[in-house]
Amino acid sequence: MRSAELSGVVCCRVPGKINLELAVGPLRDDGYHELSTVFHAVSVYDRITVQAATSWSVHVTGPYADRVPTDDSNLALVAAKALARRRPRGIRLTPVRIDIDKQIPVAGGMAGGSADAAGTLVACRELWGLDHVENDLLEEIAGSLGSDIPFLLHGGTAIGSGRGEQVTPVLARGELHWVLWAGEGLGLSTPAVYAECDRLRAERGEEIPPPTPSGELMQALRRMDADAVAGHLRNDLQEAAISLQPVLAEVLQAGRELGARAGIVSGSGPTVAFLVGSQAEAIDLSVGLAARGPAGDILRAIGPVPGAQLVQSRATA
Ligand code: C5P
Repeated sequence: MRSAELSGVVCCRVPGKINLELAVGPLRDDGYHELSTVFHAVSVYDRITVQAATSWSVHVTGPYADRVPTDDSNLALVAAKALARRRPRGIRLTPVRIDIDKQIPVAGGMAGGSADAAGTLVACRELWGLDHVENDLLEEIAGSLGSDIPFLLHGGTAIGSGRGEQVTPVLARGELHWVLWAGEGLGLSTPAVYAECDRLRAERGEEIPPPTPSGELMQALRRMDADAVAGHLRNDLQEAAISLQPVLAEVLQAGRELGARAGIVSGSGPTVAFLVGSQAEAIDLSVGLAARGPAGDILRAIGPVPGAQLVQSRATA
């Protein structure tokens, strides 16, 4: 059996995402909800480093490190092993050590775990020299591991359909400025927020139409006009996230009073994304939010940014 014994280190930078629109359709038979979402990659990055090792392991540093599992449940490790299973016949691959510098808030609705999986797929493909794994196959593997992972391979601004894993880029020019509030020690489980959304809808006896992207938002994104985009942000999970973490209503109110063009819970939360008109407005809002509370980490970001990108490639083979 041939063995791809590689030395060297591969490093990949991968952004977090927010959702500019999240229209949640009916619950499907497979336990997922049919979605129409607009993903938007923002400039908050995790850094994934992979190198050949004698056993599989994952190590996490950074401000959120203590909230990330380092056992077999870590999605980056799951992704590396899933890719290794796609090696050509007759090739043996070395296990890898994965190092994650965690800067994306954990369990925050910014797809931080999915970002690490996307970054690991790109980095391991390079380290192992799996040149036969084209982008289409990488996306298919990504989609089998989690609904948000294919988008984080792409980045930019894109519509997600199906359960979110079918990604179509959106025509968009320019950039938007964001202030992100991530509650200290808060975390919302994605399945719990979807379940709360179903519960609230059932309580009201709501008819749930098939989800579709908003034409007005698409128009506004074409010009990246902050005020136009602000008028069309939508998240069907927001009410459920607030129901489980009522402090989010206070955060949204604080951002509005401090001059944000709009505020929205990101994905299943609890991160809140505020849209502002410029870098200067972003600085003013972040200073205001920090002074006024509720307590949380406050990050400034721009979007859209590219998805997982190699920043250091295989040195020797
Ligand atoms: O795909 P992912 O692992 O990120 O999904 C986590 C959970 O979020 C799922 O198990 C499901 O409960 C919920 N979910 C959903 N509908 C989607 C995406 C996620 O109900 N479209």
